[in-house]
Amino acid sequence: MKRLLWLLVCLVGVPLLPVRVMSAEPPAAQPGGSGCLTCHASLEDEEMSKAVPAWQQSVHKTAGIGCQDCHGGSPKSMVKEQAHDPNAGYIGIPDPTAVPEQCGKCHQVQRDNYIPSPHGTVGEFIPNCVDCHSDHKVVPADVVKISTPKRCGDCHTDDILDQFNGVITGVLTPIAQAKQAAADLRPAGVPVDHIDAGADLAREMFRQKVSHVFVFQTIVPRADSVKASLKKVDTDIRAARTEVSTRRKFGIVAAGFLVILAGFIWLYRRTLSE
Ligand code: HEC
Ligand code: HEC
Ligand code: HEC
Ligand code: HEC
Ligand code: HEC
Repeated sequence: MKRLLWLLVCLVGVPLLPVRVMSAEPPAAQPGGSGCLTCHASLEDEEMSKAVPAWQQSVHKTAGIGCQDCHGGSPKSMVKEQAHDPNAGYIGIPDPTAVPEQCGKCHQVQRDNYIPSPHGTVGEFIPNCVDCHSDHKVVPADVVKISTPKRCGDCHTDDILDQFNGVITGVLTPIAQAKQAAADLRPAGVPVDHIDAGADLAREMFRQKVSHVFVFQTIVPRADSVKASLKKVDTDIRAARTEVSTRRKFGIVAAGFLVILAGFIWLYRRTLSE
């Protein structure tokens, strides 16, 4: 009897298993199919529908981050009261002071640097994440596009913004160039993994120590030390380029030698046949 019971449990339980595993996947995996999107896209009130087309152009859509990842709620329901159920974590429109924690669920480094920054402490969370990155149409961050008089001019002079852009691009540009150099050299067959890793390390140092701190006194020396760490990467890039050109020269010499050798063999065989 006991065995029969086990058999029954197994027969019923096993087919259920994959179903349970599948339903444990975050709904964010298919945000396109969610009830939030379908209903909100059809709402007459523009304030309530504009989030959908904006989000559709965002990096979050591409990354599978849906409405419910920021607002909570039940994305699978097409009934408003269920979709907006606070028991399913629905929070509605987040308060501006709560936004850094909201975004910080996934962007911890940026949150940890931003909260004690002057924009967090003196500015009491103005500007916050969405003032600089937008709420729904979030695109890859580019300091030149973010740090503009239109966005920052109420509180800062153009000089401050130019200085800020200079500090940030002064680090990010050489990092991007080092990554590009590694990518360009790779097909030539020289080792470039250490160059790539050096650039990634500098990028991470920048992210941890410079990004979102917003105090010149702190970030200028830190940016300098990140740039200093790139000196070694630069030396490695130069060495790799020299190796590629040495290989090329050696290749030309070797090819020339082979042609001459072939000529000799041809001559030799001709002399033999005569
Ligand atoms: C069946 C339609 C429907 C569905 C499904 C739905 N909503 Fe809404 N939502 C509305 C309507 C209508 C409003 C306008 C305010 C109201 O009537 O509550 C609204 C308002 C909102 C607001 C603004 C709240 C405010 O206080 O003004 C947010 C944020 C929101 N919805 C997010 C979501 C999210 C996230 C989901 C999915 C988890 C979702 N909605 C699913 C119909 C829907
Ligand atoms: C990355 C986080 C994030 C995602 C994803 C997101 N929202 Fe929002 N949403 C916010 C924040 C933050 C606000 C508060 C507005 C502000 O402070 O600018 C907001 C505001 C809103 C509002 C109030 C009106 C407005 O635009 O300010 C609605 C309605 C809304 N969101 C619906 C949606 C819907 C529908 C989706 C999915 C298509 C969605 N949101 C996806 C963060 C997000
Ligand atoms: C005053 C404007 C401003 C505020 C406020 C702000 N950011 Fe940024 N953010 C930027 C700029 C400029 C960049 C690009 C340069 C950089 O990475 O520091 C950026 C970059 C980013 C990146 C890309 C980082 C990377 O290393 O690729 C993320 C993610 C991000 N911000 C999230 C946030 C979050 C989350 C908040 C709130 C806690 C926030 N930002 C607040 C201006 C801002
Ligand atoms: C549920 C997790 C999650 C939440 C919440 C979230 N994001 Fe993101 N975000 C991601 C992922 C995943 C990516 C794409 C991968 C990456 O670049 O980190 C991304 C990308 C970004 C980028 C582009 C980074 C780059 O490459 O330059 C910015 C800017 C950004 N998010 C800002 C925000 C802001 C502002 C909020 C809050 C309104 C927010 N995110 C909330 C997960 C999240
Ligand atoms: C609502 C006002 C406000 C806005 C808008 C604002 N900031 Fe600030 N910011 C402040 C305050 C307040 C401080 C701290 C006091 C100071 O240094 O001016 C500060 C400090 C800074 C600092 C450090 C200055 C220093 O001398 O160390 C930088 C850099 C900065 N902000 C960049 C930006 C950028 C870039 C933007 C736009 C994307 C921006 N801020 C938008 C209020 C603002």
